[in-house]
Amino acid sequence: METFSTQKNRYTAITLSFLFVFLLTMFLFSRRALEPTLSLYRDIISQASLVSSLPPPSQIDSHISLTEPTQYSSNQKSAADPEPVDSSSHQPINEFTTSIKESAIPISQNESKDSEFSTNSNSESTETMMDHNGDDLSVDDLKKCDLFTGTWVKDENYPIYQPGSCPYVDVAYDCQNNGRNDSEYTKWRWKPDGCDLPRFNATDFLLRLRGKKLMLVGDSMNRNQFESILCLLRQGLQDKSRMREIHGHKITKGRGYYVFNFMDYNCTVDFVRSHFLVKEGVRINGQGNSNPTLSIDQIDKASGRWKRADILVFNTGHWWTHGKTARGKNYYKEGDFLYPKLDAVEAYRRAIKTWAKWIDKNIDPRKKIVFYRGYSAAHFRGGDWDSGGSCNGESEPVSSGPILNHYPLKMQIVEEVIKGMQVPVKLLNVTKLTNFRKDGHPSVYGKIGTPGKKVSTRRQDCSHWCLPGVPDAWNELIYANLVFQETTFKE
Ligand SMILES: *[C@@H]1O[C@H](CO)[C@@H](O)[C@H](O)[C@H]1NC(C)=O
Ligand SMILES: *[C@@H]1O[C@H](CO)[C@@H](O)[C@H](O)[C@H]1NC(C)=O
Ligand SMILES: *[C@@H]1O[C@H](CO)[C@@H](O)[C@H](O)[C@H]1NC(C)=O
Ligand SMILES: *[C@@H]1O[C@H](CO)[C@@H](O)[C@H](O)[C@H]1NC(C)=O
Ligand SMILES: *[C@@H]1O[C@H](CO)[C@@H](O)[C@H](O)[C@H]1NC(C)=O
Repeated sequence: METFSTQKNRYTAITLSFLFVFLLTMFLFSRRALEPTLSLYRDIISQASLVSSLPPPSQIDSHISLTEPTQYSSNQKSAADPEPVDSSSHQPINEFTTSIKESAIPISQNESKDSEFSTNSNSESTETMMDHNGDDLSVDDLKKCDLFTGTWVKDENYPIYQPGSCPYVDVAYDCQNNGRNDSEYTKWRWKPDGCDLPRFNATDFLLRLRGKKLMLVGDSMNRNQFESILCLLRQGLQDKSRMREIHGHKITKGRGYYVFNFMDYNCTVDFVRSHFLVKEGVRINGQGNSNPTLSIDQIDKASGRWKRADILVFNTGHWWTHGKTARGKNYYKEGDFLYPKLDAVEAYRRAIKTWAKWIDKNIDPRKKIVFYRGYSAAHFRGGDWDSGGSCNGESEPVSSGPILNHYPLKMQIVEEVIKGMQVPVKLLNVTKLTNFRKDGHPSVYGKIGTPGKKVSTRRQDCSHWCLPGVPDAWNELIYANLVFQETTFKE
């Protein structure tokens, strides 16, 4: 009797809960159908799905961050959509390779025929593509491969150009000529876990750039990368005098704009300095002094030049940790409003969004490729760049430890903003590969040593990189990308 009644109770409870769930579903469904913009209901559903499907913590993080009311991530991003990246309006950037395969280039077969990047796919590419063992490169393997997870392997064929041999390395990165006498740090090659990168071929790279303008925009770290690419491409010239800066400028810290023409390939490789990507300004304060400001809602004045490029490589990051930028007092502006105080990370987020908006408005993704090169790690021991930190004497990469997994919040912001863009920006996610390379910085060899005099160890450069060195790998990754892109178009 007792068992019977409990059983009966249980049946009633089950029936009632079914009925309840059914009614709730009907209710929510109809509310959604009737008022698709009513975000309250979508939030409920979203949270329900979030809890019930219990995604791994990383997904929860990104899901939550995506539901922030940001301009770029507002639409269709909730409900039964636990994968934050699969909505068609958002480019998956989880993996370099997925993004290429799926929608980094959201171009139909037709449109790809008009694309400037399919035109020079004349014949050869497959036979010239070799991996580092001289074997044919499997394009299928490459497409599945995450290019940014891997290790550095010793390769006696490296460096691609000899230390001290390239005239475009400015003094700050010219470590061998400044007295660095170890060279093992130049003999490492980046090896993704799942594949080999295509073997670097400067001539082939130049052919792919024919008729185009490749432009690097950013801070001195991008100048570092710019000099690397000039030296890499120079290797493809029989006659090394067939490249020149069109105004005859020599690369120095002081200038912010260079255009290098490769005469036989009708292509140029440019550098446009932009520390923040947004607009720097000055204001006159109460005492009549002029103080710097940063308009985080306006794009950099140099952006007119960016429009001319076919392939763009952006970055910003290191300047956001410097004094006035980090303090954020009477520095950041939106419209005419000067913030008495604004957190640098929030300012960075808004600046990246300003940049994203500009890209979406001004860049035609069928004709152009946009890269964002991720944060490059610094390795200061016992201090920071301005407080006696050092990295001299490091001759081997880091082999293990927490530093290898360090990934800055600013990069998470960049990823989030890129996901919300219409233009499929390719993230060159180099942070991890730089984390290893405590041996690659100029340290005390960032300036010419006086012979006989001991180098001063006071201020060391443990953020930029000696050349040849780490930025060569970033450019190899750009090259790899152009190789994939073409094979993708050809399919
Ligand atoms: C970029 O690399 C970091 C590891 O350094 C990883 O945590 C992150 O998910 C990667 N981002 C993308 C979009 O692949
Ligand atoms: C592709 O091009 C053909 C003819 O050029 C056209 O009929 C077709 O609609 C196009 N398809 C797409 C998806 O644009
Ligand atoms: C390299 O320089 C260091 C310090 O300047 C010196 O101790 C070392 O002997 C040098 N090594 C070689 C191979 O010249
Ligand atoms: C490099 O590329 C050029 C042009 O595509 C090709 O002729 C040459 O054989 C390639 N070199 C190697 C070593 O693959
Ligand atoms: C060089 O490239 C430009 C596009 O950047 C093109 O307009 C021009 O016709 C090309 N010149 C030659 C000689 O191929």
